[in-house]
Amino acid sequence: MVLGSLLINQHPLLFKNERLPWRHGPRDAGYPFSRRKMIIRPRATSSNSSTAEADNVGLGRSSLVLNKGIAEFYDESSGVWENIWGDHMHHGFYDDDSSVSLSDHRLAQIRMIEEALRFASVPSGEENTSDGKIPKRIVDVGCGIGGSSRYLARKYGAECRGITLSPVQAERATALALSQGLSDKVSFQVADALEQPFPDEQFDLVWSMESGEHMPNKLKFVNELVRVAAPGGTIIIVTWCHRDLAEGEDSLQPWEKGLLDKICKAYFLPSWCSAADYVKLLQSLSLDDIRTADWTQYVAPFWPAVLQSAFTWKGLTSLLRSGFKTIKGALVMPLMIEGFKKGVIKFSIITCRKPK
Ligand SMILES: C[S@@+](CC[C@H](N)C(=O)[O-])C[C@H]1O[C@@H](n2cnc3c(N)ncnc32)[C@H](O)[C@@H]1O
Repeated sequence: MVLGSLLINQHPLLFKNERLPWRHGPRDAGYPFSRRKMIIRPRATSSNSSTAEADNVGLGRSSLVLNKGIAEFYDESSGVWENIWGDHMHHGFYDDDSSVSLSDHRLAQIRMIEEALRFASVPSGEENTSDGKIPKRIVDVGCGIGGSSRYLARKYGAECRGITLSPVQAERATALALSQGLSDKVSFQVADALEQPFPDEQFDLVWSMESGEHMPNKLKFVNELVRVAAPGGTIIIVTWCHRDLAEGEDSLQPWEKGLLDKICKAYFLPSWCSAADYVKLLQSLSLDDIRTADWTQYVAPFWPAVLQSAFTWKGLTSLLRSGFKTIKGALVMPLMIEGFKKGVIKFSIITCRKPK
């Protein structure tokens, strides 16, 4: 009973009487805070799969430990990744053909960005700009070494702000922007997505490409995305989810939880949620045009290719030079493949618009 209520209080989707942070502005931005307050009680929609529930406080010590682990993991592994895969640290989007070369994989990563924009109906740069729909201010939440930021800044001629927990990534992203002549357009800093250092209603496009899975408190995460979005702004979340629960199920099967737990430990992930959980959160915040899709089939060639690249000479030597966390990450790659194949892990896109 006590354990049950502890878990409920710590569940990322179950915050009782939580005030919506996106109505209150960032604590450190020094901007006027909105006076409006809202009380919501999002309903539980699934029990999360992972036993990493203890990490779900989102505000306490365990969250700090998680963030430190994430920062160290990316500090250590980003150089290895860039060396082999370039500046996008996310899945590619593929047709059904799985026999693709590394250069095709890089194109597939760009395609992932384009498909996400298309899915969310963000107009392409070539379309009429007079309707004001082309994003001019973008935030890249969990920006890695800034691949999406630079791509989007170029595509739209937009200003882009990227945040990451990893100082090494922020520094590398800044250096790449400088060398590519984009310093006046994009900037990067170390900041927590759950406490974003931006005033309310700043961004036409709020972009989270494969960072949501790291967030220990999904409600706070989503609230922050909504808070910094401008009225009418688009929010795009591309993320790893667990499968939607079936009617009558209140949690994943023990073997599924076991599989995800191992992945959580290696990649510094808290417990997972489903795409349906995200949709319910967004609905509870009255967002417009909420859409979701399961893109698992379009990312199938990705992990086998990453695994294969780890077993090349370049991959092995880079891994050995990197450190324990990166090696541990490499060792669980087969579990990602298994999770996708067995239908436990879903590659999801969830998008919406903030009401005007
Ligand atoms: C898999 S990488 C994706 C990077 C980038 N979006 C891309 O597609 O190239 C995950 C990123 O999420 C960031 N991240 C994880 N948790 C975060 C948090 N609480 N606040 C800010 N960034 C976070 C990591 O630092 C890392 O940059």
